Amino acid sequence: MTTIRSIVRGTGSYLPARVMSNLDFEGIIDTSDEWIRQRTGIARRHMAAAEDTTVSMGEAAARRALDAAGLVPDDIDLIILATATPDNTFPASSVQVQSRLGIEHGFAFDVQAVCSGFVYALTTADLYIRNGMARRALVIGSETFSRILDWTDRTTCVLFGDGAGAVVLEASEGAGTLEDEGILVSKLRSDGRHKEKLYVDGGPSTTGTVGKLRMEGREVFKHAVGMITDVIDDSFAAMGIGPEDIDWFVPHQANRRIIEASAKKLGIAPEKVVMTVEDHGNTSAASIPLALDRAVRDGRIGKGDLVLLEAMGGGFTWGATIVRWS
Ligand code: UT7
Repeated sequence: MTTIRSIVRGTGSYLPARVMSNLDFEGIIDTSDEWIRQRTGIARRHMAAAEDTTVSMGEAAARRALDAAGLVPDDIDLIILATATPDNTFPASSVQVQSRLGIEHGFAFDVQAVCSGFVYALTTADLYIRNGMARRALVIGSETFSRILDWTDRTTCVLFGDGAGAVVLEASEGAGTLEDEGILVSKLRSDGRHKEKLYVDGGPSTTGTVGKLRMEGREVFKHAVGMITDVIDDSFAAMGIGPEDIDWFVPHQANRRIIEASAKKLGIAPEKVVMTVEDHGNTSAASIPLALDRAVRDGRIGKGDLVLLEAMGGGFTWGATIVRWS
């Protein structure tokens, strides 16, 4: 039986020009290049300039994704932007991207699931497309975490970077089989009991301030691999496939050790893992579309490939999506 699938038409990304290396931290806080590399795999990260915001970077990534898709802004009727660092408390950053792109039809909204935001946003866009409420969607992950970091806290400020990535999804008729192109399965989870392990200590309804990121890194680490592998195993089971069927694993880029441990536990070969954490650090909701865009543009991910996306972050939230590339 034929069915509507959301296929990927194009990807794009934007990274601020300024790069901060691990060595740049050595004069600011008590840390070392060696500690950061060994514990996280991070070597450098991009930092927003004064004029770079979540909206401006999201717009830039979106324009590149549209170019890659061979489409113009007017072709888009849905924008979902995943971010934990919006330009304003409201209106949504997605609506501001919509206006910068000159789109006056359709609808746009933000998704807040911190580092899992892109997987949540992609899943949401897929549901709107499959229900016929949208035909072409821009799904964007854009973050300026540098603006919510406590630059005196060495346990967090070395971990994060800024940037944006985007994909264009389009409705397409599929045969209803696992050979179809497009998003084939998504699994989302959350468990709010873990709030205190990773949160921002401010907000409009509490302190009236933006606040700073706080994290018990060791506690997050302890839960990460189990949660990631559980939701991926559920996704494999839903499709009746195994790790050997996956061509590319594009995980959220928080820590090399978490990514490698997850791939090993799942039985995914190291050469199938797309790793950008060394160059980008943790860019929260932007990390997966940034990694996807790199692997598409350098020719690794191509038509017909089965691509596994996965994220875990504040909340906790976590999730996985499997998509056959088009
Ligand atoms: O994207 C959302 C999800 N977030 C994550 O996935 C992050 C998960 N957590 C992690 O990636 C790791 O837990 C960290 C990278 C944050 C920390 O690595 P760790 O191996 O868990 O280190 P730790 O927290 O156990 O700290 C070990 C030591 C501590 O010193 P003592 O208490 O042993 O004397 C820390 O104070 O390392 C110290 N330390 C540092 N030393 C130098 C913490 N941060 C630094 C630093 N430079 N930047």
